Amino acid sequence: MAKVKLTVNGRAVSGDCEERTLLVHFIREKLGLTGTHVGCDTTQCGTCVVHMDGKSVKSCTILAVQASGSSVTTIEGLAANGELHPVQAAFKEHHGLQCGFCTPGMVMTAVDMISRHGGQLDEQMIRQELEGNICRCTGYHNIVKAVLSANAEMHGGAKQAAE
Ligand code: FES
Ligand code: FES
Repeated sequence: MAKVKLTVNGRAVSGDCEERTLLVHFIREKLGLTGTHVGCDTTQCGTCVVHMDGKSVKSCTILAVQASGSSVTTIEGLAANGELHPVQAAFKEHHGLQCGFCTPGMVMTAVDMISRHGGQLDEQMIRQELEGNICRCTGYHNIVKAVLSANAEMHGGAKQAAE
């Protein structure tokens, strides 16, 4: 067994787990934060994306022990003071989801993408950046619209490209 210590959504947490435990399983099963999903556990679908020290990572691809000492943000940590994060609000406004299974990963990827590219984001870049996130429902169009809209809201970037 190994001891894992993390800061998750601003809270210090720790727990014992087997050395082979994936970060996503630690988050879901030890911490009870089930907003982070498992769609494949082979690094393909992106439903498990969280932020580790500010960067989006696929939490099915990292061992919990490797993440020990880091600061992790999950989908549960995005809303603040009872208000949705602008990316969450944009997904809601633009109907960027249907069943919602991919949505936590999409949102976490989008937040990181917007923070890295700021106002420079355009539709083509968003589609490229979403390469690692699979959605079986939406056809992606409304997801791209939502990310463009959130980018405009947060950085004054181009909003019109996917409208
Ligand atoms: S569960 Fe991590 S990429 Fe699919
Ligand atoms: S909304 Fe159903 S998988 Fe994306």
